[in-house]
Amino acid sequence: MSAPRAPGVSPVDEPGTGRAALDLHVVDHPLAQHKLTCLRDRHTPVALFRSTVRELGRLLAFAASTDLPLSTRAIDTPLAPMQAPWVDESRLMVVPVLRAGLPLAEAFCELMPSAAVGHVGVYRDASARPVEYLVKLPPPVPVAPTRCFVVDPMLATGNSAAHVIDVMVAHGHPLSEIRMVAILAAPEGLDLLGRRFPGLTVHVVAIDDRLDANAYIVPGLGDAGDRMFGTGH
Ligand code: URA
Repeated sequence: MSAPRAPGVSPVDEPGTGRAALDLHVVDHPLAQHKLTCLRDRHTPVALFRSTVRELGRLLAFAASTDLPLSTRAIDTPLAPMQAPWVDESRLMVVPVLRAGLPLAEAFCELMPSAAVGHVGVYRDASARPVEYLVKLPPPVPVAPTRCFVVDPMLATGNSAAHVIDVMVAHGHPLSEIRMVAILAAPEGLDLLGRRFPGLTVHVVAIDDRLDANAYIVPGLGDAGDRMFGTGH
């Protein structure tokens, strides 16, 4: 007889080697690790927590955009005409997973100001299953594909991330153009994403040890949304 399963975990989602199927990048820059320590510290006040998330967001945006397609554009410098490198920002989209993804999305938009912003609202029910309450995506750009950065500070069970990626794919965005971006990941969440979306590119600042019984990342940083918006107790 097979072992009982946790709610929301289907056979294909069993822990194992899913993570190896991901194109997984860890931002191990000393400043990123230093800022993460500031977030982990339970004594970090709300304002500093939120500004530090934005700073980490900029570092993540930089790391996650290294493979953006580059074309050229004819310009005139004060001295000469030239063909200069150019990123078509109309083909970029940032998708914060509400609500904790918002400060990360702001950071991405500082680096890519003309990127479109889509919002997906998902909360976790008592079994850590994703419940969608909002999908508001910009209309498709005629010159597809669009590079989509799905941003959520915490990749815990992976259920919410998988749900949002399903939404993006259903809206016509190929998996090869989707980037999952998080500050912290749990092995369980990476495993799920690798099994559901082999080849998906994921950028994180650190991978922690495990999930606890309430699907919080350990050692983690607590509830990211509560800590950045001051709604915890
Ligand atoms: N969401 C959070 O905010 N924190 C966790 O540890 C897991 C999910």
